[in-house]
Amino acid sequence: MKKSSLPFSREIEARNGSLVELRRDFHKHAELSFQEHRTAAVIAERIAAAGLEVRTGIAGPGVVGVLHGDKPGRTVAWRADIDALPISEAVQLPFASVNEGVMHACGHDGHTAIAITLAEILAERRADLPGTVVFIFQPGEEVVSGAKPMIEAGVLDDPPVECVLGLHLSARDPVGQVIVRPGPSMASADFFDVEIKGSGGHGAFPHLSVDPITVAAHILIGMQDLITREISAQETAVLTVGQVESGNKHNIIPDTAYLRGTIRTFRQEVRDQLVERLGSFASRIAQAYRAEARLHLTGEYCPPVDNDVDQTERVRQGAVAEFGEEAVTEGVPIMGSDDMSLFLKERPGCYFRVGAGFPGEVITHHQAHFRIDEAGLAVGLRLAMRSVLDALQP
Ligand code: NI
Repeated sequence: MKKSSLPFSREIEARNGSLVELRRDFHKHAELSFQEHRTAAVIAERIAAAGLEVRTGIAGPGVVGVLHGDKPGRTVAWRADIDALPISEAVQLPFASVNEGVMHACGHDGHTAIAITLAEILAERRADLPGTVVFIFQPGEEVVSGAKPMIEAGVLDDPPVECVLGLHLSARDPVGQVIVRPGPSMASADFFDVEIKGSGGHGAFPHLSVDPITVAAHILIGMQDLITREISAQETAVLTVGQVESGNKHNIIPDTAYLRGTIRTFRQEVRDQLVERLGSFASRIAQAYRAEARLHLTGEYCPPVDNDVDQTERVRQGAVAEFGEEAVTEGVPIMGSDDMSLFLKERPGCYFRVGAGFPGEVITHHQAHFRIDEAGLAVGLRLAMRSVLDALQP
C-alpha cells in the first residue's frame, strides 16, 4: 500500500498494535444494543485520559468526547457505533466473545477502536490541530434507534457541528479498497408486523375455524408481487419477512398469526407506497378468507444514508491522495441500513466504507461466521484521520 502523506502518519503506524488490541478487547466483551455499559466505560476512560471533555449517559450508554485544537478551524463530528448483535459466535478466535449469544458480527468493535485511537492521536497533537472534533459514540445502531435520542440530546448543537463523518468496515470488500459514494448509498429501513386474526379450533374440523396460518401463507407469497408488479422497474425495493409466528401444536388451529419483516428502499415515495399497499393488500387477502389483518410499523423509520455531494468529494480526494486512484471506488448503493442517516439529515457529511475482507471469501455481516481482516483497521484509521483533518480546515 501507498505510504501515508498524513502529518501524523508516524503516530498511526506506532499505534497499529494497540488499535488491534483495543478492537479485540471490544470483540471479546461484545454487548447488545443499549447495554453497552462496559464498552462505554472503556471509551470514556480512554478519551478522558487523552484529555477530551467527556459526556456520558447520553441516550443510555452513549458517550461524547470533545477535543478543541489550539488553532482556528471548523467543528466536525466523527461518529462511531458501538453495539453488537444477538448471535452466537461460530469463529474460533482467541478473543471470541465471552458473552454467550452476543457477537460483534458487523465490525462495530473496529469502528469503536478506530474512533478512540483517532481521538488519542489528535489529542496528543492538539497544538497543531485546527478547530474542534466532536467524537460521537452511539449505542443501539443495530436496532436503528440510537442516533435519534443522541441528536435530541443535542450532540450536534453543543458545540455546533458543521459536518458529520463516519466509516463502516466491510467484510465484502478487500483490505485496501475504500468506497466513497455521493448521494444515496444505503437504503431506508422500516420494520413491520402483519397481525392476522382468525378463529382457532380443532385441526380436524377446519370448516369450523378461520385459519390464520393459511391467510398468512397467502399474504407472505403474494406480497412480493407488490415489488414486481407495482413498483417501477427503475426503482429499488426489498420486502423481507424474517419471522413467521403462529400456533403451538400439530392439530390445533390458532387464533392469530404474525409475519414480521423489513422494507428497504431509497426513496420516501417508494417506501410510502409499499407501506400503504402492504397494509391494504394484507387486509384484503385476509378479508377474502374471512379473517382480519393489520399492518403495524414497529420502531422509527430510518431514512436512507444520503451523502452530501461536496463533503463526499472532499473525502474522495483525500482517499485518492492517501491510497491512490485505484483504491477508491464509488461502489453501488447497498440495501443495508444505518441510522448514521439521521445525523446526515441534520448536517452535511459523508459515511464511507472501508474494506476489511479476506480475498476470495464471501462473508456477509450479521452472521455467526463473520470476521474481518484486521489490516483494514489501519486503513480505516488513515482515512478517518485524513477526512477529519481536511474537514477541519477553516
Ligand atoms: Ni453495522
